[in-house]
Amino acid sequence: MSLNEPSSRTLPANSKPISFTSSHTSVKKVADGVATEGYINIQDLSIVFGKGKNSFVAVERISLEIPPGQFVCLVGPSGCGKSTVLSAIAGFVAPTYGTIQVDGRVVRKPAGERGMVFQQPSLFPWKTVLGNVAHGPLMSGKSKVESHRLAREFLQMVGLANFADSYPATLSGGMQQRVAIARALANFPRVLLMDEPFGALDAQTRIMMQENLLKLWEELRTTVVFVTHDIDEAIFLGDRVVIMSANPGCILADLPICLSQPRNPEVLIEPAFANLKKDCFELIRRESLLAFEQQSRRSSKIQRHR
Ligand SMILES: Nc1ncnc2c1ncn2[C@@H]1O[C@H](COP(=O)(O)OP(=O)(O)OP(=O)(O)O)[C@@H](O)[C@H]1O
Ligand SMILES: [Mg+2]
Repeated sequence: MSLNEPSSRTLPANSKPISFTSSHTSVKKVADGVATEGYINIQDLSIVFGKGKNSFVAVERISLEIPPGQFVCLVGPSGCGKSTVLSAIAGFVAPTYGTIQVDGRVVRKPAGERGMVFQQPSLFPWKTVLGNVAHGPLMSGKSKVESHRLAREFLQMVGLANFADSYPATLSGGMQQRVAIARALANFPRVLLMDEPFGALDAQTRIMMQENLLKLWEELRTTVVFVTHDIDEAIFLGDRVVIMSANPGCILADLPICLSQPRNPEVLIEPAFANLKKDCFELIRRESLLAFEQQSRRSSKIQRHR
């Protein structure tokens, strides 16, 4: 399937496939699809919240190496520390022990080179769509003309060029999330961190967003760490699915996803897809039950201390 072809998956009667026109833009693409930047190296990462007897180990001794341009999906039971790991890579949360490096540099604070997309788009409501996407380039010192030019190119890539002058509140949830992705990409991140970015979207929009994200990634080859609860989504998108355990979150399994590339919806009916799904499902179900019990015990302990 070429980049500009609409997906072969069936869309609702009143919706148009999102057209991707990135081949008409001048945004730098990765030569031969081989990325050289965005190498994430996490060594012995532990994150403890609070102090003394109230301290809580959220993440314990995680080591994970992600080569440049890889698409890694992180799954695991609720509360196991997925968002905490992502926030640590982004630089919002400091490691208690261990280190995180991106391209050999220790992560100490947030930076545009590590773009983050959250479940809720969290756009600036007072800025237009163009203003939202141009914000990062402007903050990094680019001129207004250059920032707007870049913003328009990224909006074109996510199929929203015609909404540049709209305000976020006038867009649907899926459109807002595409703006959020364009906003993160406009900083030319080495690493794109996505925390359940499609979790709030309806099923059809979600499928389109997944396919469009893959098309963008195939062109830009930014390293992606994508958190999701949806096993199908993780296997469909990922080169690799990393499964975290119940608390304290550590790595339980690291599964390479050897399905055909570029991915298209036909992989969903491949026997290999079903086998991978079964493996992931069994591991996650066991951990989810454990996490549920842990959280029930934790909440009754908190009640007793009140
Ligand atoms: N700032 C904080 N202070 C104290 N505890 C925290 C803090 N942030 C997260 N936690 C705890 O750390 C654990 C991991 O939280 P985290 O949000 O990373 O889980 P998650 O895997 O992303 O869960 P979900 O799938 O529900 O989003 C949870 O038990 C949570 O209560
Ligand atoms: Mg989370």
